[in-house]
Amino acid sequence: MGPKGPLGEMSAEAAQPARAEATTRGGAEARARVEELREQIRHHDYAYYVLDQPEIPDAEYDELVQELQALEARHPELVTPDSPTQRVAGKPTELFAPVRHLSPMLSLDNAFSKEELLAWKKRVERAIGSGATYVCELKVDGLAVSLVYERGVFVRGATRGDGEVGEDVTPNLRTVRWLPARLSGSGHPRVMEVRGEVFLRVSLFERLNEELIARGQRPFANPRNAAAGSLRQKDPAVTAKRPLGLWCYGTGHVEGRREDRHSEELAALARWGLPVSPEVRTARTIDEVLAYCRTWQERRHEVDHAIDGVVVKVDSLSHREELGATSHAPRWAVAFKFPPEERTTVVKAIEVHTGRTGRVTPYAVLEPVLVGGVTIGYAGLHNEDEVRRKDVRERDTVIVRRAGEVIPEIVGPVLPKRSAGSRPWRFPEQCPSCGTKLERRAGEADWRCPNRRGCPSQGIEWLFHFASSDAMDIPHLGYATGVALLERAMVSDPADVYFLKEEELRRLPGFAEKSARNLFDAIQAAKDRPLWRLLAGLNIPHVGPHVARLMSNAMPSIDQLGAASLGELEGIEGIGPEIARGAYEWFRHPGHRTLVAKLKRAGVRTVDERPGRPERGPLVGKTIVLTGALGSMSRDDATAAAQGKGARVSGSVSRKTDFVVAGKDPGSKLDRARELGVEVVDEKEFLRRLG
Ligand code: IVH
Repeated sequence: MGPKGPLGEMSAEAAQPARAEATTRGGAEARARVEELREQIRHHDYAYYVLDQPEIPDAEYDELVQELQALEARHPELVTPDSPTQRVAGKPTELFAPVRHLSPMLSLDNAFSKEELLAWKKRVERAIGSGATYVCELKVDGLAVSLVYERGVFVRGATRGDGEVGEDVTPNLRTVRWLPARLSGSGHPRVMEVRGEVFLRVSLFERLNEELIARGQRPFANPRNAAAGSLRQKDPAVTAKRPLGLWCYGTGHVEGRREDRHSEELAALARWGLPVSPEVRTARTIDEVLAYCRTWQERRHEVDHAIDGVVVKVDSLSHREELGATSHAPRWAVAFKFPPEERTTVVKAIEVHTGRTGRVTPYAVLEPVLVGGVTIGYAGLHNEDEVRRKDVRERDTVIVRRAGEVIPEIVGPVLPKRSAGSRPWRFPEQCPSCGTKLERRAGEADWRCPNRRGCPSQGIEWLFHFASSDAMDIPHLGYATGVALLERAMVSDPADVYFLKEEELRRLPGFAEKSARNLFDAIQAAKDRPLWRLLAGLNIPHVGPHVARLMSNAMPSIDQLGAASLGELEGIEGIGPEIARGAYEWFRHPGHRTLVAKLKRAGVRTVDERPGRPERGPLVGKTIVLTGALGSMSRDDATAAAQGKGARVSGSVSRKTDFVVAGKDPGSKLDRARELGVEVVDEKEFLRRLG
C-alpha cells in the first residue's frame, strides 16, 4: 500500500521542533491512510469504469471518497492534483458560488520520458500527418483559472473545480495585479475565456511562510498550496496582501476568434496586456521540443515560480480540432514531467526519535535546502539498516529529493566530498528521551525503547495521536498542550485526560477561561466517539483507523474484542494473523485492562450501538446530503449515524437525493437542492429522523 513515510510512525516533517511539529504530527498516519484510500478508489474506479465490473456497492465507494475528502480537508498538505477527490463532482465549493465554464477545463496527459514524448508525437502525426509545428511552454505549478472577458472587460474568474464547474473567485482575482481589468488595444473577441495559472513566486512563498509561522499560523507545504490558499480566501483583502502572479497559456470558449495558431493567439493575449510567459517558444521539429525540455529541466530554478514540466502543444488550431480530446485531456497537448528534483546539502547531524509505540527512528538534520519549492530541513532514515545501506554519515554532503514529490529522502552521500576523518554513524544505545537502554529483537529492523509507560517521548506521541483526527479527534488538544499536561503530571496516559477539570486547564500556560472551556468541552464531547476511534487511539500494534473500523464492525464492543480468542480475531474480515496476535496480546496485558477500565470509568463510550442494519425507519434506503456545520455532531459522526440508520450519504445533490440536511453556513449544495426542488431539513428535523 501507500508509503508510510520515511520515519514510519512519525512523518519527516514531524521531526522538526515545536510549532511545526504540532501542525504536522499525526501526518504520517494520515498520509498512509490517504494513500491507501487513493489506491482503493483508483482500483474501484478501474473496476467500475474500465472493466465495468464494480466490486463494491456505490454507497461503500462513496464512503471511501468521503473519508478521503475529510482527511484531505484536515490535512491540506496531503492534497495532490492526482487525488481522486480532485475530479469528484460537487466538491468543496462551499465557500464560493459555483460557475459553469463556457468550455470545459481539461487536464493534460503526461509524458515521463523522451520515449513517451516521441510516442505522443507519433500519435499526433498519425492523425494529422507529418510537419506539425509545436509550441513549448513551462508547466507552471500553481492553480488553474479561467478568466472571462466580454468585449475586453474582465467580468468573471473561476478556479478549475471539477473541470466543468469551478468556484467564482472574481473579487479575489481582481486583486491580482498582473490581471488587467480591461484589455488594451483593439480587436477583442466578444466573449473570451482566457486560461492561465495563478502562482506565488518562490521568493514570496518563503517570506509568506515565515510570516505565518511568526503569527503562529500553519505554513504552506509548497508554493502551489500557497497560491491556492491565497486565492481561495473568503476575504479578498487577504488575497490582495499576497502578491500572486499569473501566466496565461491559452483560451477556452472564444466568440469571434481571429487567429489560426496558438502562438498567434498567445501573441494577441500579450498585445492586449495579458501576462504571457516570456519563455514560450515555437518549435519546428521534435528535436527542438526535446532541447527545450532538456534546457528547462536543468534551468527549472531560474524562474521565480515552481514548474513541474513543459507543456508541448500543436500550434495549428485546425490541427487541434482534428485531433480533438479524450474525456479528460486534449490529444493535441502533452505535459513532459520532470523527474523528481534532486539537490545536494550537508547532514548536520543524525538523530533519533522515539515514537508512540516505542519504535526509535533515525533522521538526518540537514542544512536547509529548497527542493521542488519546499524547504527541507530533515529527512527520515527509516532504521539502522537503512543508514548502513545508504552509508549516510554526519557531515556528509548528500543528495536529497522528495519521494513522490512529497516526503524528503536522502538518495545517498556524495563520496568524493566526504571528509577524511569521517566514521560510520552508530545507533545510540539509549533512548534519547528517557535514557533507557534500547532493544533490537532478532529478526526485527527497529530499535525500541522498552520503557512503554515511563518514556516522555512515547507518552507525548501517544497522547497527541490519541487526540488526533485519526483517533478520538479532540480539538484544542495539540502537541504543546499535551506536553504541558504531561510535564505537570496532570496526565500519565490518555484516559487521564477525561478526568481533567476545567479549573485545572485554566492553569495551563497560555490558557484563559475561554480556551480552558473550549478544551474541556472538546474532551467531554470526545467521550462519545464511535468505537473505531477509541481502538485507533489505544496504540494497539498495527491498529490504525482502517483496521480499527474492521474490528469494530465485526465486534462492536471493546469487551467483546478483549474477550475474543485469537482465532476469532483472525476470523475478522481483512485482519491478518500478525494484527490479530498484536491485538490479542494487547488486550491480555494487565496495564491495558486497567486502561480500558479507567476509560469506562471516565464515561468514554466503548460500545457501538448499531445492531446491524435497520429494516424500517425514516432513513432506510434514503439518499441524503449534508451541507454546512451541525451543532451537535461532526460531519463524520452525522454520516456514520445516518448510515447506521440505513441511509446512503452522498457528497453531491442530484435528482436522486431524498433530502438535504442544512446546518450552519450551508454551501452551494443548498442552492442546488432548491434548484432541483429537493427537500431540505434542518438539524433538528434530521435528529428527529435519526431518532
Ligand atoms: S494547457 C487543455 N499550459 O497543468 C489543456 N496547462 O495538468 C489545458 N498548466 O490544469 C492545459 N502550465 O493548470 C497548459 N503552459 C501550460 C500550463 C498548464 C500549467 C496546468 C493547468 C492544467 C494542468 C494540467
